[in-house]
Amino acid sequence: MAADLAAMPSQLGQKGLMAMHHDNRVNRPEGSQPGLACGEMLTFPTVPAKRVDASGPKMTALTFQGAEKVAIEEQPRVAITDPTDAIVRITTSTICGSDLHLYHKEFLGLSPGMICGHEAVGIVEEVGPGVTKFKPGDRVVIYAVISCGKCEYCARGETGCCEGTNRGGKKGEMEKMYGHCTAGLFGYSELMGGYEGLQASHARIPLADNNLLNITSSPVTDENAIMLADIYCTAWHANETCGTGPGDTLAVWGCGPIGLLVAYFAKVRGVKRVIAIDSVKYRLDVARDKIGCEVIDAGTQDVVKTIQELVPGGPNKCIDAAAFRYDRGIMHKAMRAVGMETDTPQIANEAIVCCRKVGTVGLIADYYGYTNHFNIGAVMEKSLTLRGCGQLWPQKYGPMLLKMMEEGKISTPWMLTHTMPLSDAVRGYEMFDKKEDNVLKIILKP
Ligand SMILES: NC(=O)c1ccc[n+]([C@@H]2O[C@H](COP(=O)([O-])OP(=O)(O)OC[C@H]3O[C@@H](n4cnc5c(N)ncnc54)[C@H](O)[C@@H]3O)[C@@H](O)[C@H]2O)c1
Ligand SMILES: [Zn+2]
Ligand SMILES: [Zn+2]
Repeated sequence: MAADLAAMPSQLGQKGLMAMHHDNRVNRPEGSQPGLACGEMLTFPTVPAKRVDASGPKMTALTFQGAEKVAIEEQPRVAITDPTDAIVRITTSTICGSDLHLYHKEFLGLSPGMICGHEAVGIVEEVGPGVTKFKPGDRVVIYAVISCGKCEYCARGETGCCEGTNRGGKKGEMEKMYGHCTAGLFGYSELMGGYEGLQASHARIPLADNNLLNITSSPVTDENAIMLADIYCTAWHANETCGTGPGDTLAVWGCGPIGLLVAYFAKVRGVKRVIAIDSVKYRLDVARDKIGCEVIDAGTQDVVKTIQELVPGGPNKCIDAAAFRYDRGIMHKAMRAVGMETDTPQIANEAIVCCRKVGTVGLIADYYGYTNHFNIGAVMEKSLTLRGCGQLWPQKYGPMLLKMMEEGKISTPWMLTHTMPLSDAVRGYEMFDKKEDNVLKIILKP
């Protein structure tokens, strides 16, 4: 029953979203992006990737099959499709909290057979004639976000908002919903560009010069380097966009890999007090014992009341690192089930209510659609800044965070809880979803 309910909002919600919307899609011809130099054109990568001849070499991949159904499949290997592509043999991949939204079929533009995954490290096997910075044999981190390297957003390092790598769904759904398209992501549905994912033995990397980090001469292990693909960059990005630093008090909702790293990096940046909230005991233990957070168990404690007692006046920075689909109680569960909303506002509302007046509430957790009962009044009356952190900007932070790792300034060995062969990834998804065996990050070895 729960699984059925979980599967419904995206189906009903998708129609509902479209019906609720006037068609305000901007008819923007490819290449007319205003930040580009005169005469320069955006050239969107070709999707899907070409495959080698069916009788040629194969690859193994984890594919989405339906609600709570993924499978390991053998497929013809991806091939160079555009001249700027590289083919990478994946040596290490992993599962993200964002993959769980797909796993629960709570996202637009999912189709059975899609290869999942957006975090990986590997060895470059082949490059197209337009690749200038990488060669076969290079060891690389693959960034989760695909950057065109040309648009005004990429020029500023705001690669999660890239204009040149995502058409936003077969029918332009993203532009209808958001007024704009954001960057393409690996393994993340048609809405995010329809690119094949990285939980696989091989991957095609479009615009390889922009989307790989060279770690050939770095002593950092695959298991640590893979955190630069997404989660380190995401957590740093949340801190950066919310401007955390000495003098702040921060509360973080969610102690999955992202929330824990948001808390960890806040401490690295000099935030003295970090309050971490979750209802999963082992995750709260990590927040308290490994990062030095004060913790609140949302399963047994009244979060708002406890924060008000702990921090009179409230924390001035509050970051939501849980997700749109973590509804509680009957009302939002029911509204999501019948498509009256896609996203619950409950966690964001808690952050808004707890936040100190004139403070900042950041959303690094994934939200993607519409919500009811959003506490817009408190945002206005309390002079809050609401910061949509967006998808990460790994091209901006990756090299800096790698250097910090190499210099021993950041280290999170507690994050790597499990290693398994890619062939066991179906079990890995189940375990990560159900939060079994104290799981945080599962390293998958193809
Ligand atoms: N913006 C980005 O670039 C980006 C990148 C990666 C992940 N994400 C998103 O960040 C979020 C966290 O990712 P993750 O890998 O840590 O996922 P996760 O699912 O492992 O962690 C989420 C945590 O939130 C907790 N939670 C649920 N309801 C809660 C509540 N009411 N109060 C407090 N905590 C609650 C869960 O118990 C869980 O531990 C996801 O939404 C993911 O999609 C965003
Ligand atoms: Zn991710
Ligand atoms: Zn761009």
